[in-house]
Amino acid sequence: MTRGSENQWGQALEKAVLRRQNPDGGWPEICRLCAGAADGIPGVICDRLGSVIWLRIYSDLEPEALREFIGVVESSFKTARVFCSQRVREAKGQAGFRWILPQGRPPASSAPFYASRAKERSEVFEICERPEDDFGIYVDSRSARNWVAENSYGERVLNLFAYTCGFGVASACNGAVSVCNVDVSKDYLTWGRRNAALNRVDFSVVPEDCLKFLQRLRRRLERGVAQEPTLIVLDPPAFIVGKGSRRVTRNVLEELLQLCRGVLAPGGKILLSCNDATQLRNGGFFRTCDAVLQTPGTPLIQQPLLQSTDVLGENPEAIDPHHSAAAFWILEASGKREKA
Ligand SMILES: C[S@@+](CC[C@H](N)C(=O)[O-])C[C@H]1O[C@@H](n2cnc3c(N)ncnc32)[C@H](O)[C@@H]1O
Repeated sequence: MTRGSENQWGQALEKAVLRRQNPDGGWPEICRLCAGAADGIPGVICDRLGSVIWLRIYSDLEPEALREFIGVVESSFKTARVFCSQRVREAKGQAGFRWILPQGRPPASSAPFYASRAKERSEVFEICERPEDDFGIYVDSRSARNWVAENSYGERVLNLFAYTCGFGVASACNGAVSVCNVDVSKDYLTWGRRNAALNRVDFSVVPEDCLKFLQRLRRRLERGVAQEPTLIVLDPPAFIVGKGSRRVTRNVLEELLQLCRGVLAPGGKILLSCNDATQLRNGGFFRTCDAVLQTPGTPLIQQPLLQSTDVLGENPEAIDPHHSAAAFWILEASGKREKA
């Protein structure tokens, strides 16, 4: 890359950042500042999470171009702590990230970390400056959290793959009658409980494998000792905790969806995400959904959820060869169950 084009890229990032500015000159506390190709910079994603700015580079870039990007965010967010990671190809074609900023970070286990807060709507979330944990809230899910907040009143919410319970907080703060968060990680659920306390709400957390939890819930429903959720959030990562091929979400997605459909209350809704760019591009995700939707059971209607404008970027049609944001759908049960 020539020096000239580096300058152009620095300017493109600056333009993208300025485009997200509020009329009062500030920025939303949780937002995407640069959405890669959609903002004219393929492979460059920049998120604001309160006082943390997370710059992710998915493409190969010369060090000078990188310094230029970091300079742009540091001058726009003077008091923020900037974290910058770049994707690198490792052995056997596996991808990993190397941390460029902060420089000379000690190993994860011994790294000191600092917790701050960030607000979205009227909800507050703990942001933890441990990059290994992705800081505590995903910007890609911003419009989905908003949808959950607006559709939780009076609902019994089941939040699967809950992480720090972002969806759980959005529903508990907006009138859900009960919220149950399930995740294999006790640490993330403890963080989720801190998020609940920050917002003066309460909910239950279950440290368990989501597939096992759903099977157990189905048995408890059959025995009449549990209530069906009326809203299920199903937001799994592309790779989950599981044995062998069951570590790959696409291999268990059909099972997960069928289980969710089986426990969902008549007329209930499922918020479903896809975090696997390859599955979205090759249509595998849609084939799995269609297979489930066409089998006997509760009929479901499917509609896509629009991403927020910051995540879409200036030109949402532009396809980024290096990165795709998570995509969300609402599956709505029509009300009556068909005979299986
Ligand atoms: C990308 S995060 C999910 C994002 C989250 N839904 C949100 O609102 O931001 C992935 C989460 O899935 C959890 N996880 C992975 N495999 C799991 C499994 N088999 N059962 C339950 N949780 C799992 C991880 O611990 C992690 O917290």
